[in-house]
Amino acid sequence: MTILTGKTVLLTGASGGLGVYIARALAREKATVICISRSKVELDIICDEITALGGKGISIPFDIKNVAKLSVLKQYIHRFVDHIDIIINNAGIEICRLLSDYSLEEIQSILETNLLSPIELTRLFLPSMLERRSGHIVNIASLSGKKGVAYNSIYSASKSGLIMWTDAMRQELAGTGVKISVICPGYVSEVGLVAKSGLPAPYFAGSSKPFYVAKAVLRAIKQNQAEIIVSTGFIIEYFVKLLFVIGQLYPPFIDVVYRWIGIPKFTRMRLEKKRNVDVSMINSVIGKHG
Ligand SMILES: NC(=O)c1ccc[n+]([C@@H]2O[C@H](COP(=O)([O-])OP(=O)(O)OC[C@H]3O[C@@H](n4cnc5c(N)ncnc54)[C@H](OP(=O)(O)O)[C@@H]3O)[C@@H](O)[C@H]2O)c1
Repeated sequence: MTILTGKTVLLTGASGGLGVYIARALAREKATVICISRSKVELDIICDEITALGGKGISIPFDIKNVAKLSVLKQYIHRFVDHIDIIINNAGIEICRLLSDYSLEEIQSILETNLLSPIELTRLFLPSMLERRSGHIVNIASLSGKKGVAYNSIYSASKSGLIMWTDAMRQELAGTGVKISVICPGYVSEVGLVAKSGLPAPYFAGSSKPFYVAKAVLRAIKQNQAEIIVSTGFIIEYFVKLLFVIGQLYPPFIDVVYRWIGIPKFTRMRLEKKRNVDVSMINSVIGKHG
């Protein structure tokens, strides 16, 4: 079992949503947490909280979409710490749209944030982990990567890529002392990119509290779990896994189950709500300046 006390953890997306819960859980284990995101003020707040909880927080504002500049981030991180023990690739974005409505920039930004950046960050820190024969990478994916979600196809593609990349890397890293895990949360309540929409998740899909995602991250590290599906309980977790097994055999059958649960309808509602908010914001700007 891995002990987190005194370990140095690089956590992306630490300034909001699930990242804050993960940061607090690491702080209670007395870890040093290097917190990355674009919002300096929020990062400083969570770093103070980490330190108050018994860990050590180091705030580094950085846009991880700048994949080519992640090597500069690495050099900067080494001003504060000698090495990284654990990377938690948590930062992620989602833009719900019909495929034809995406711009190329939007597609690129989802893939860069959710997939390319975790791969490149790991590539940069991996040699030192391999040298020390110790380290753990935790990727926060999503159930949307286990079964595609209509109107969120690029997000699904990014998360499914993250799951498969983790799967390949686990085999590549076997016997090296470096471990890798993937966490697949379903809908999360209270905070995060789904809760922000203000729409309740479909009843039969359910939603987990953010605390359970943080708990899953600790479990993945301490018990070296390959993949954890975060849902509302053990029975539901096994039911979800069974659904995905059936989905491997008969994908269209699970399309019907998803329609019955209301998942495509929910994503469409989120898309339309966001579009209405955007239109009313544009109208208010035109009203002010027009
Ligand atoms: N919430 C859910 O229901 C749910 C379900 C399944 C999976 N997930 C996954 O869980 C992870 C966390 O999501 P969340 O719900 O906590 O989302 P969130 O509330 O929107 O928070 C996302 C975090 O990522 C950071 N971030 C986004 N783009 C970034 C960039 N280019 N560079 C650096 N940091 C960036 C944000 O900080 P700044 O904006 O300050 O940069 C923020 O700290 C994501 O990978 C998401 O896909 C969430």
